[in-house]
Amino acid sequence: MLVPGRIIGDAQNAGTVMKHWRIDDIAWDRFEAAKAAPEIVPLIKAASLVERNGREYAAYLCRVFANDDAMCDAVRQWAEEEVQHGNALAKWAQLADPKWDFQAARARFNAGYQLPHDTEGSIRGSRTGELIARCMVETGTSSYYTALGDACQEPVLKQLCRHIAADEFRHYKLFYDHMRRYQAQEHIGPARRVMIAAGRIGEGEDDELAYAYYCANEPESEPYVRTRCSAAYLSVAMRYYQFGHIQRGMGMTLKAVGLPTQGRFPAAAARMAWWLLDWRRARLSRLLTVRSPATASA
Ligand SMILES: [Fe+2]
Ligand SMILES: [Fe+2]
Repeated sequence: MLVPGRIIGDAQNAGTVMKHWRIDDIAWDRFEAAKAAPEIVPLIKAASLVERNGREYAAYLCRVFANDDAMCDAVRQWAEEEVQHGNALAKWAQLADPKWDFQAARARFNAGYQLPHDTEGSIRGSRTGELIARCMVETGTSSYYTALGDACQEPVLKQLCRHIAADEFRHYKLFYDHMRRYQAQEHIGPARRVMIAAGRIGEGEDDELAYAYYCANEPESEPYVRTRCSAAYLSVAMRYYQFGHIQRGMGMTLKAVGLPTQGRFPAAAARMAWWLLDWRRARLSRLLTVRSPATASA
C-alpha cells in the first residue's frame, strides 16, 4: 500500500562547519542487553526508518529552496547527519534484537510511504513557513532524544541519544537562522506563523511514524491500522518526557514563531503543554486498552 507522504525532517547550517561524530565513535562494545528495555526497542526501530530517509527530505527541500545554493548545500550536509542517525539507531536495534532485519523493514517502509515528490514549492505556502515547520521537527527530535537519553539505562543508547539530541539542536539553529533570513523578505504574520507551527506539531501523529512503527515491528500479514500503530508508538514514547524537556521545547517553539520566550506567557504555555501531554498519555493508554490489533479499525 502507499501512504500519502508528509514531510518531517531536519536541516543544516549554511556556511557552518558541521561538528561530526561517526558511528564508530560510539562505544558499541559497552552494550548491555539486560538494560535494553523491551518497550524502547520498537521505538528505536521505527525511528531508524524515518531518520534513514534524510536524503529524500533533502531532495524535497532542495526543490523548495531552488536557487538558494547555500541552503541546498546545508540541506545536503544535514541529510547525511540524519542518515547517520538512522544507521546508528538501526545498529543499536539490531544489538537489542539480533533477528531484526533493518534492510527488509526499510524496503517495506519505502515501498509504502512516499514523500510529495511532485511538489515544487513548499507545502507550507512559503519558504519561511517551510523553515518554521523544520524548526518544529528539530524541536521535537531534540526534545525526544534528550528525554530518551535521560530515561534509558542502556549505556550505548544513552550515549547515542545524547549525540543525536545535540545534532538535532544544531539542526534547529540552522533552520532558525535561515528562517530569520527569509522572514525579513516574506514578512509572514504572527497568526500564520503560529498556525504553521501548530499544524506541524499535530503532524507528529501522522502516517509517517505510525507506518514506520508498523513496518519495523509488525508482520506484513497484519493489516496496517494507523490509529493503532500511532497509539502503540506514542503511548510509549510519551512516557519519557519530564517537565524540563517540555519547558525547553516550548522555549524553542516560541522562539521559532517569534513570540516571547521570557516571562509569564512561556511559563504558562509550558504548563499547558505538560497538561496536554498528560491528557494524551491517559487517552492513548485507554485507546490501547480498548482496541486490540485484531479488532481495531482506522
Ligand atoms: Fe535533525
Ligand atoms: Fe535526526
